[in-house]
Amino acid sequence: MNLLDKLDYAAKVRKAMLPDGLAAFGMPVDKIKSATEAQVGEKEILFFGTNNYLGLTFAPECLSAAHQALDAEGTGTTGSRLANGNYHAHRSLEQEFASFYNCEHAIVFTTGYQANLGVISGLAGPDDTLIIDADSHASIYDGCKLSGANVVRYRHNDVEDLEKRLRRLGDKASNSLIIVEGIYSMLGDQANLAAMVEVKKRYNSLILVDEAHSIGVLGETGQGLVEATGVLADVDFITGTFSKSLGSIGGYCVSQHAQLEQLRYLSRPYIFTASPSPATIASTRAALTLLRNGRQLREQLWRNANQLYQHLASLNLDLGPDPGPIIAVILDHPQQALALWQGLLEKGIYVNLILPPAAPDDKALVRISVSAAHTEAQITSICQAFSDLKACF
Ligand SMILES: Cc1ncc(COP(=O)(O)O)c(C=O)c1O
Repeated sequence: MNLLDKLDYAAKVRKAMLPDGLAAFGMPVDKIKSATEAQVGEKEILFFGTNNYLGLTFAPECLSAAHQALDAEGTGTTGSRLANGNYHAHRSLEQEFASFYNCEHAIVFTTGYQANLGVISGLAGPDDTLIIDADSHASIYDGCKLSGANVVRYRHNDVEDLEKRLRRLGDKASNSLIIVEGIYSMLGDQANLAAMVEVKKRYNSLILVDEAHSIGVLGETGQGLVEATGVLADVDFITGTFSKSLGSIGGYCVSQHAQLEQLRYLSRPYIFTASPSPATIASTRAALTLLRNGRQLREQLWRNANQLYQHLASLNLDLGPDPGPIIAVILDHPQQALALWQGLLEKGIYVNLILPPAAPDDKALVRISVSAAHTEAQITSICQAFSDLKACF
């Protein structure tokens, strides 16, 4: 098969899995009306498939900061942080992240994907071992590939299996990095972090927590699972993204290890790409302030998430194990998931459709994201839509 034949084959496999459903992916949105409402063609839809957990994409403070930066500094930096693309605001945001996490060191990346790629491949090399959860996000898997390190996978969120793998490494365990996610992006469950930190201490390993879905969502001040479980001081590296609770685009890593700074000179995904635009940095700085003071937003988010999770559980749906802002409805077949996805869209509700291999265990998912910006009436609408569609599951 030549290169183009391979793509034709991949298209055929996708079509066979979902004959009528390919339009479900990358559906163009015609008009964004608010953090939770949009228009597709003439149809009004409620967004339940964004990662806009705190609903900050239209926060006046963020919009105004972005407008000012755009006027003052232009549309883009047109260069790398190591060249012309290092503005004071990039450094200020790094200092604000460091202060948020009570750490000395922070680096901002252009996306959350690049933060994982850049940190993992900057830290580990061919003589080291990366120990990752089997359900890790693609950016973690790709960071592992780029590093050239030995990669060991443990069963999803299974502390005993993690420990077994470290034990097998023997002396090499002290050259290893364990990687976990605060909230897992597919099933919405939380890492068993406190127990994993104990394991990392016993084996003299290091641990990185990706708080992409948990910053702003977990912990008194929104630091994420590190705060909710009280293990911040024992975690070596935290990565995360601006593209969810912070409502923009970009990524970060914080650490108390001074060596983090060296990644600026050897991490290819940090060096060989343009830095985030001034408007992006400005809106993220404003959003970080709102997030830190966002206890009420977090409480509203959890009220919404718990209400929806309980309703779906009462319909006997197979759900991810923990209630939270990501609620995964687990279905056996892609066609079932597509029928539910389409049924919801016809009722004006947009959620995410996730098929194998992106969904774990060969299942298919209808994945819902809840936001603090969802109103009581919007939560009632999605609950009603699921009740009406009971025949699909
Ligand atoms: C766990 C996790 N890490 C990293 C990322 C990448 O973030 P970004 O979209 O900002 O590149 C995502 C994105 O969905 C994610 O779910």
